[in-house]
Amino acid sequence: APPLKIGIAGLGTVGAGVMRMLARRNDEIAARCGRAVEVVAVSARDRSRSRDCDLSSVRWAESPVALARDPGIDVFVELIGGSDGAAREAVAAALEAGKPVVTANKALLAHHGVALATLAEQNGAGIHFEAAVAGGIPIVKTLREALLGNRMARVSGILNGTCNYILTKMREEGLSFETCLAEAQQLGYAEADPSFDVDGFDTAHKLALLATLAFGVQPDPGAIHVEGIRSITLADLDAADELGYRVKLLGVAARAGDEVELRVHPTMVPKHWPIAQVSGVTNAVAVDGDAVALTLVGPGAGGDATASAVVGDLCDLAAARVSRPFGWPVARLRPAGKPAIQRHEGG
Ligand code: NDP
Ligand code: HSE
Repeated sequence: APPLKIGIAGLGTVGAGVMRMLARRNDEIAARCGRAVEVVAVSARDRSRSRDCDLSSVRWAESPVALARDPGIDVFVELIGGSDGAAREAVAAALEAGKPVVTANKALLAHHGVALATLAEQNGAGIHFEAAVAGGIPIVKTLREALLGNRMARVSGILNGTCNYILTKMREEGLSFETCLAEAQQLGYAEADPSFDVDGFDTAHKLALLATLAFGVQPDPGAIHVEGIRSITLADLDAADELGYRVKLLGVAARAGDEVELRVHPTMVPKHWPIAQVSGVTNAVAVDGDAVALTLVGPGAGGDATASAVVGDLCDLAAARVSRPFGWPVARLRPAGKPAIQRHEGG
């Protein structure tokens, strides 16, 4: 089958990560999905900037909107960020042109997700956003597909890698808030404006998306109770430690009668609870359904982890018409090799 042709707008931490992952994995993606995923065009602000990926065979679009409307692409990938401006205009343009969108942009979806989903429905296109919540953790598909039979009571967890990184590093290494934030920025974890991370709004955006998926509600992100971690000091973390607690920034969406309560705030968690041990950039999302309760733990930010979720969405689109019960063509399944443990037979 011909390759799935994609255009990527935004070549920063996540966009470059997606380019690298596709370059590394495309042979296997082609075999498993029935066709390759080919990046044909890109867009970013600065064409001369050196980026940690190979752009030799792609063309540059004039703008994100021009890329979204480009008849040569099948799928538009938005990795710019921001709830308005270029990202919003380009996503709307792609959907109006009937093109599926893959995005990691939780701010955009928390504020305009329902309007964009309406546009998607009207034009027979889809919006795929596994990367928008908790980086590499597949919580969107888990809630939307795998756990659909459950009535959810609560979805909660550590949803911001930057904050968890800062809280971990401050406590473990005695570093200042500013030093830890600068490290998180250097590692590509933080938002372009890191106040979204440390003041709790990024967690609120993700929580709003989780609430929509789990409860079918349409939260107003501006109405969520949000407290961030900016005012937390080393002394606070040490005092919590002495009392037997870790401080974690949690997002909580819980059913309360006919309504859903949403809140984001630093929380003292008993040290022996599993979530207290989630450290660094790792995120954890706990889901309480009436049949299944589980917690997914994994990397919440960073180029490779987020690219994993974006590429997963692209593979879903590439494989849409292919039936592969095990995710591989059966002809490519091979023996697993020697068993690691040899069974002892007889005397
Ligand atoms: P970066 O700031 O690293 O990259 C943003 C990219 O968008 C840059 O390449 C920039 O161009 C480009 N860009 C900005 N404005 C425009 C514009 N007007 N027209 C064209 N291109 C533009 O961001 P990230 O990669 O970190 O994040 C991208 C998205 O992914 C955001 O929505 C973010 O919230 C989300 N996300 C990020 C994660 C992470 O760990 N970083 C994890 C999960 C989601 P240029 O390079 O020329 O400046
Ligand atoms: N800035 C975000 C975080 C990126 O630190 O969690 C992942 O959404």
